[in-house]
Amino acid sequence: MHTRRIGDVRVGSVGLGAMPMSIEGRPDESRSLATLHAALDAGVTLIDTADAYHLGADEVGHNETLIAKALASHDRGGDVLVATKGGHLRPGDGSWTLDGSPGHLKRACEASLRRLGVEAIGLYQFHRPDPRVPYADSVGAVRELLDEGKIRMAGISNAGPEQIREAGEILGGRLVSVQNQFSPAFRSSEPELRLCGELGIAFLPYSPFGGIARAGELAAQHVPFARIARAHGASAHQVCLAWMLARSPVVVPIPGASRPESVRDSAGAAGLVLSAGEIAELDAA
Ligand SMILES: NC(=O)c1ccc[n+]([C@@H]2O[C@H](COP(=O)([O-])OP(=O)(O)OC[C@H]3O[C@@H](n4cnc5c(N)ncnc54)[C@H](OP(=O)(O)O)[C@@H]3O)[C@@H](O)[C@H]2O)c1
Repeated sequence: MHTRRIGDVRVGSVGLGAMPMSIEGRPDESRSLATLHAALDAGVTLIDTADAYHLGADEVGHNETLIAKALASHDRGGDVLVATKGGHLRPGDGSWTLDGSPGHLKRACEASLRRLGVEAIGLYQFHRPDPRVPYADSVGAVRELLDEGKIRMAGISNAGPEQIREAGEILGGRLVSVQNQFSPAFRSSEPELRLCGELGIAFLPYSPFGGIARAGELAAQHVPFARIARAHGASAHQVCLAWMLARSPVVVPIPGASRPESVRDSAGAAGLVLSAGEIAELDAA
């Protein structure tokens, strides 16, 4: 698979979002492990997770534990950059709550380290700004984790342009990635994508197909993507990812999956080349 850069690490240009394997509608463990192994077999070397990808309040880190198990049982497990996050919580009633306090982020990182079974987390991302906590305090905690060597690289998520600049300053130029929602139907993070390009920071589009509930409607909802897919003998999902990759060399999409077939299809997008005319048409679609 073609590679792209996140900080000082090269990863396959199409990553994997592991969230669907741990939240509502998740499959059994054997299918999840098969899905993760299919990703490794296809050349995926970036797996996105979070401590909050779980269902019950008593299973924080379900997704991280699953990933650790999959990596330990595959000979390419050591090649993977695991990108986890802290700052969200799931109390078990289906809701997502926030705690961006430095104390919580420090404790959450320690717990993620234990679950992933590593001495330092490859990429640790502050999941979402917490309006009750100054952004500088949350990102300051991430800086301390970097300084202590608990995390190798730092990223942020759900951040606007001002927050990206602020985080870059607080981290002393060590911000390597921004993870924001971006899909054919949701393009309002264009300014952040452009800013990441200017700053040379990786941009990880999340929910690239519109999210778990809408991913199946991609071809029906976005006709130009489906038409261009037919012309290439590809899937609309592959065209969607190829279009994102063509937007900027800093883009590394993290499509979610809970089936091996999905990851294999998405990984195929890394080698799909769209013409300038097709890209312009999809930009305008
Ligand atoms: N930072 C944040 O706040 C945040 C928020 C949301 C998500 N995320 C991250 O971003 C990742 C991706 O977002 P998402 O999972 O919400 O939504 P998504 O990637 O837009 O859609 C995921 C769904 O797409 C389906 N799919 C994947 N590849 C496919 C293909 N090639 N053809 C057809 N269907 C395909 C999968 O189906 P199957 O399940 O059947 O395989 C999966 O359930 C998450 O897993 C998570 O890691 C981050």
